[in-house]
Amino acid sequence: MNTNKTLFIPVILGTPRQARMSEHAAKFMLEEVSRRDGVETELVDVRDIPLTTAGAGEDIKDPKFSATVMRADALVIVSPEYNHGYPGLLKHALDTNLKEYIHKAVGICGVSAGPFGGTRMIQDLLPVMRELGLVTIFWDVNFSSVQNLFDASGKLLDQSFVRRADKFLKELIWMAKVLRYGRENVPLE
Ligand SMILES: Cc1cc2nc3c(=O)[nH]c(=O)nc-3n(C[C@H](O)[C@H](O)[C@H](O)COP(=O)(O)O)c2cc1C
Repeated sequence: MNTNKTLFIPVILGTPRQARMSEHAAKFMLEEVSRRDGVETELVDVRDIPLTTAGAGEDIKDPKFSATVMRADALVIVSPEYNHGYPGLLKHALDTNLKEYIHKAVGICGVSAGPFGGTRMIQDLLPVMRELGLVTIFWDVNFSSVQNLFDASGKLLDQSFVRRADKFLKELIWMAKVLRYGRENVPLE
C-alpha cells in the first residue's frame, strides 16, 4: 500500500459573518494542515461559494467547489455554533454535492464564544456527515471562548491548540490514507 501519495485536505470555513472569529480558527487549522509533509490544502470560504437561494442541493452546484471536494481525500470543517446548531449557509453549501464525498474522511472543529467549543454544533453536524457519505473521525477541536484564543490579528494565544490540532490531524490523515486505499483498491461487493 503506497501511503506516500500527496493528500489533499481543504479546510472549509462555515460562516459568512462579518468579523467572524471562526476565520482565525480556520486559518490556524489551514496552517497546521499545510505544515504536514505530503499534504496539500486550501481554504474554502462559504462566503466565496456563489450559491443561489432560489434552489437547493445538486441543482445549484458550484463547479469550483464541487471540483475541490472531488479532489479532496478529507475535509476539515471549521464552523461556529449558532443557536446550538450549524450555520445555515454551511449546510446549504454542503448539500450541493453528494458523490464527491463518498468514502472520504472528515474532521470537525467547533468555534464558540461560550465554554463548549461548538460541541452542540458538532453533534448536530455528525448525522449530516454520515448521510453525505463522509467518514467522521473520533477527535474534534473545540475552540471555546474563542475571543480569548486569538488576538485581533489572528495570532494564536493558547499554544495548547497546536497539540490538539496535531492529535486531530494525525487521526484525520490516517483515515484519509485508509479510505483512499479503499476507494482505489477495494471493490464494493
Ligand atoms: C446567530 C448567532 C448565534 C449564536 N449562538 C451561539 C450559541 O448557541 N452558543 C455559543 O456558544 N455562541 C453562540 N454565538 C456566538 C458565537 O459563538 C461567536 O460569535 C463566536 O465568535 C463564533 O462565531 P463567529 O465565527 O461568527 O465569530 C452565536 C452567534 C451568532 C451570530
